[in-house]
Amino acid sequence: MKIGIIGYGAMAQSLCRLLAVHAPQIQVVKVLIRSGSKAQTKPLSLGAEFAFTTEQFLAADLDMVVECAGHAALKQVGPDVLKSGVDLLIASVGAMADAPTEQALIESALQSGAKLRIPAGAVGGLDVLGAAKLAGIDTVIYSSRKHPKAWRGTPAEKLVDLEHLTKPTTFFVGDARHAAMTFPQNANVAAVVALASIGFDRTQVTLTADPSATGNTHGIHAKGNFGEVTLTISGKTLADNPKTSMLAPLSLVRSLMNLEQTVVVG
Ligand SMILES: NC(=O)c1ccc[n+]([C@@H]2O[C@H](COP(=O)([O-])OP(=O)(O)OC[C@H]3O[C@@H](n4cnc5c(N)ncnc54)[C@H](O)[C@@H]3O)[C@@H](O)[C@H]2O)c1
Repeated sequence: MKIGIIGYGAMAQSLCRLLAVHAPQIQVVKVLIRSGSKAQTKPLSLGAEFAFTTEQFLAADLDMVVECAGHAALKQVGPDVLKSGVDLLIASVGAMADAPTEQALIESALQSGAKLRIPAGAVGGLDVLGAAKLAGIDTVIYSSRKHPKAWRGTPAEKLVDLEHLTKPTTFFVGDARHAAMTFPQNANVAAVVALASIGFDRTQVTLTADPSATGNTHGIHAKGNFGEVTLTISGKTLADNPKTSMLAPLSLVRSLMNLEQTVVVG
């Protein structure tokens, strides 16, 4: 399988390293970056090249594109990838909280028959939520707890004094749509949980900065006709980006590997 990657930050570089170890048959052939980006100085996988425009990127004979660049990039490039008939696996799932972006992605996929694939990312339990949904889910609460440094550069800075917190402080309580749109680099998991269960407007979210946190903790609590599920994941973060969980690029690798497996679990 030949893949292209949009973005070359912490997640994309981790993805490339992981593919080389776990799935060397999956070849990274193009990496789309912005011209003048410092990503250009980072080493690439063997056989891969940088592209600086969507046209250059899509000119390669790609079987799959993986987006690792953020909401704006997904909104800008995602529809073109799907319209060209190439499947798209996305990390910046929260971009789908913006209804016109969601519609553009889905319509582009329907137009060409390409698939928009949403990985579990930093969480798990989506299989349970997806199955439970068929029986009816009444409530879903997603909670995220990260170190204050992971909330730097986000609107959390205006809501709490991140530099001087002495105890866990919840600064956002609301629905998944607002969470994903207000905290695009941090609340992608809220979007994944919402899409797998009862949607952006009914999924409730709490976001917390915790000075004692040693990683990113994701909690999911869902209740419905099926019963009840409570799940907690305490994940380590990527060394290059404390906003991003180590599990996020691993989940991308698993999603790609599953496309080639004879036996697929989950
Ligand atoms: N689904 C999940 O569980 C999950 C978890 C963490 C992060 N994310 C998402 O994944 C994205 C990537 O995470 P990261 O840790 O690599 O972030 P990062 O900031 O380290 O890297 C993002 C890179 O994308 C580049 N970029 C931005 N716009 C671009 C464009 N139009 N074209 C090409 N490159 C562009 C940036 O220059 C940067 O190098 C985040 O923005 C976030 O939306 C998802």
